[in-house]
Amino acid sequence: MKARLLQYLRATDTYLSGEELSVELGVSRVTVWKHIQALQELGYDIQAGPKGYLYRGGNDFLYPWEFGERESLIHHFPSIGSTMEKARELGRTGAPDQTLVISEKQTKGRGRMDRVWASAKGGLYFTLLLRPLLPAVSGFLVNFITSVALTRAIREETGIEAQVKWPNDILVDEKKLSGMLSEMETRGEMVSFICIGIGLNVNNDPQHREPGAVSLKKLLGHEVNRRQLLLRFLDNISESMANPDYDNAVANWKQYTMTIGRQVRIVTTQNTHYGKALDVDETGALLLEQPDHTVKKVYYGDCFHN
Ligand code: BTN
Repeated sequence: MKARLLQYLRATDTYLSGEELSVELGVSRVTVWKHIQALQELGYDIQAGPKGYLYRGGNDFLYPWEFGERESLIHHFPSIGSTMEKARELGRTGAPDQTLVISEKQTKGRGRMDRVWASAKGGLYFTLLLRPLLPAVSGFLVNFITSVALTRAIREETGIEAQVKWPNDILVDEKKLSGMLSEMETRGEMVSFICIGIGLNVNNDPQHREPGAVSLKKLLGHEVNRRQLLLRFLDNISESMANPDYDNAVANWKQYTMTIGRQVRIVTTQNTHYGKALDVDETGALLLEQPDHTVKKVYYGDCFHN
């Protein structure tokens, strides 16, 4: 009902009477009024007066009914601890492939390696639940595919030449625009589901807490529509996962990376490794040429470009 009501209201820049809307929607005028009030309470700017109702703008809402056919897959929260926990819970209770948990802000946003992910209003914070038919040992390939889908979505929607830093950060001019946290549950040797959490600095201002971070708003000098960007990403990832090219997942990701060829520092929970990033192999590991010219495979860690 909300989706249809919004469709009528957005299709015109003149007032629509309660009578017209009740006929179009096949409900009473009181029901129309109740839905209008509910939308107003959710933040929609709808003017109500003697001539009827006028939609006054605002198109960047992340409510489920704003996602068309995907509506039933979207779980939206005004605030949540972390979308990761909710997505895992949904995964364990059988939620379908491509379920999406999204929140306007997070109070316990988590980053990789036990870091906090600051999640103020204006950014995109979501976890996508995927159920690929894959052995668990190959589950990491989905992270590479997702990174590519997101990088492309950013490029397509904003024209910004976003690049990926191993393993899954998205940077612009060395500043972090987006981070990804991936958690997998298995059944026997197969993937049961993967929760891919993405934090993307869109219209929030991450710089004052994280000097090495940047937002799309800062880069472009104006706000960016989060819903359109998210929809583009969802279209990209659905297309990729409908017919996944696992053989070329890493190769495709390499087209967008800025890590290979760079002098890097990799910090793991136990060690710090230095060297030149030679390549990323088919297991997703970074091949690091160390100062003594030996090549070390690094499987995880935080990568810093020197
Ligand atoms: C990183 O770069 O360290 C990964 C950051 C991942 C943040 C996202 S925001 C949505 C989802 N929920 C979380 O608590 N974390 C991920």
